[in-house]
Amino acid sequence: MVAWRPPHGGRHVVALDFRAMARIGVLTGGGDCPGLNAVIRAIVRKGIDVHSHEFVGFRYGWAGVLKGDAADLTLDSTRGILHRGGTILGSSRTNPYGQDDGLARVRASMEQYRLDALIPIGGEDTLGVARRLSDDGIDVVGVPKTIDNDLAGTDVTFGFQTAVQIATDAIDRLHTTAESHNRVMVCEVMGRHAGWIAVHSGLAGGADAILVPERPFDIEQVCTHLRRRHASGRSFSIVVVAEGATPIDGGVSADPGTTDAFGHVRLGGIAVQLEREIEARTGYETRMTILGHVQRGGTPVAYDRVLGTRFGVAAVDAVTAGAFGMMVALRGTEIECVALEEALAAPKLIDPALYDTAEVFFG
Ligand code: F6P
Repeated sequence: MVAWRPPHGGRHVVALDFRAMARIGVLTGGGDCPGLNAVIRAIVRKGIDVHSHEFVGFRYGWAGVLKGDAADLTLDSTRGILHRGGTILGSSRTNPYGQDDGLARVRASMEQYRLDALIPIGGEDTLGVARRLSDDGIDVVGVPKTIDNDLAGTDVTFGFQTAVQIATDAIDRLHTTAESHNRVMVCEVMGRHAGWIAVHSGLAGGADAILVPERPFDIEQVCTHLRRRHASGRSFSIVVVAEGATPIDGGVSADPGTTDAFGHVRLGGIAVQLEREIEARTGYETRMTILGHVQRGGTPVAYDRVLGTRFGVAAVDAVTAGAFGMMVALRGTEIECVALEEALAAPKLIDPALYDTAEVFFG
């Protein structure tokens, strides 16, 4: 049973309206993320063992729903996947509402597979589609996923801790080689328009400067800072930059790149320009590393396996309780349900106090 919050806010209540056996469609959408398989396994395990539900897994997110491409999810097909990165269902950035007959095709797939409800596991885009489907009368319960940790409504998304650990390990490695060569190392991490990965991994890795989207940077100030540090006897520096960080004056900028089905610009590459600018302005030999998709790959850390499992169990309980139009969420130490509307109202940006803490250790 899951404590859930009604869409209009107010007190948390415990839903008692448990349903009989249901057929539920599961999908993973958007960028993949360590911990997705833990969620799928938990949904299926609790759903079958406790509620006697039946499950169908759509392939490649909403693309599979649109095409009616799905297979049964069973205890057998979800065994042994807890520790595996990626998603056994595959994922894509597909927007059903980007196509005229998208909604009709979603309904057709649900009919084809005789589904009572959907559990989409995804970030802002996938859950944005879920919210619209919910408004259009389809029963959905969302599960928040993203390494970026930028979804409101939940304190943490699974996948984030794994990405932070990977980035921290990389920064540790950059440290030793930076020291050997007296270099400035610029390490670019993901996170889209939020600096969560940058500030956490930068703090954990002892970065000398952390550049995040929430605080546009002044390249000259960054260089002054590095010069001061080197003048005080340090011969190397580590700069962590979020892919979405932007300069105050446009003096350094990342290429806008292409856009996806949801209109998001593809980010990445700011470190290339930082490397060039820092070396030209300070004369310090500088090298950059773009961690890219390494941050999304491989084994989830224990925290993400546990959070993913808790989310999966809560999501299937929420469907059973009829708590539709909701998303499971971590609030403090508790798993709750919040309205998708609330979760999608605005992205969750970094806590200024956290950045202030990281700043204490700059230089
Ligand atoms: O949202 C997760 C994320 O990894 C972002 O940090 C990054 O900007 C984006 O996805 C990359 O997307 P793709 O895998 O489509 O290149």
